[in-house]
Amino acid sequence: MAPNETRPESQERTLLVTGASGFLGWNLCQVARRQGWRVVGTFHRTPVTLPEVLLGRIDLTDFRDMKEMLRQVRPDGVIHTAAIADANFCQSHWRESRRVNVEVPVNLAGLCADRGIPFVFTSTDLVFDGEHAPYREEDPVGPLNVYGEHKALAEEGVPARPNIRGRRQTPARG
Ligand SMILES: NC(=O)c1ccc[n+]([C@@H]2O[C@H](COP(=O)([O-])OP(=O)(O)OC[C@H]3O[C@@H](n4cnc5c(N)ncnc54)[C@H](OP(=O)(O)O)[C@@H]3O)[C@@H](O)[C@H]2O)c1
Repeated sequence: MAPNETRPESQERTLLVTGASGFLGWNLCQVARRQGWRVVGTFHRTPVTLPEVLLGRIDLTDFRDMKEMLRQVRPDGVIHTAAIADANFCQSHWRESRRVNVEVPVNLAGLCADRGIPFVFTSTDLVFDGEHAPYREEDPVGPLNVYGEHKALAEEGVPARPNIRGRRQTPARG
């Protein structure tokens, strides 16, 4: 991300939202902005604009760029929504799915944990097999596809620290 796209100029609290070009991230950016956060959002392949949101392109699978993003943005909190959320794509591109859906959240959570930055990431109810719904957070996972398997691995791999929170999403698109 280029410095002039990301550097906040005032002392407002800064929220970094990854995946701002995606369904969840795009909506979260606007909610956070309305709540008074200075919002910095990221996209990868799909450039987006949002009023009063600073946006920058990044491939989060590049660990050095990820570190540099945190150095430049200096967020007070990170909500990580970037992912490959297409289960069929994950099934046929499992290496890419593993990089984006496992390595990226684990690495980003680790960097945030080291810096004491509150970090929230999004998982999915597809970590469960669907046989015993409704599920509780503490129920054992049993994914039936690569997407669910990788999300479950990400849940396991993020560091267990007080500033790290996970959230399982159920499908939200209309
Ligand atoms: N929406 C739902 O119903 C639902 C249900 C269950 C769980 N979830 C979870 O909620 C989160 C958000 O889902 P969503 O529906 O908003 O996903 P989405 O619309 O597919 O958006 C995915 C976002 O991730 C970004 N991204 C993908 N690869 C990237 C990379 N290598 N580097 C940087 N950014 C990258 C995309 O950027 P570009 O488009 O710019 O390339 C896009 O902004 C995901 O973790 C998903 O698994 C969503």
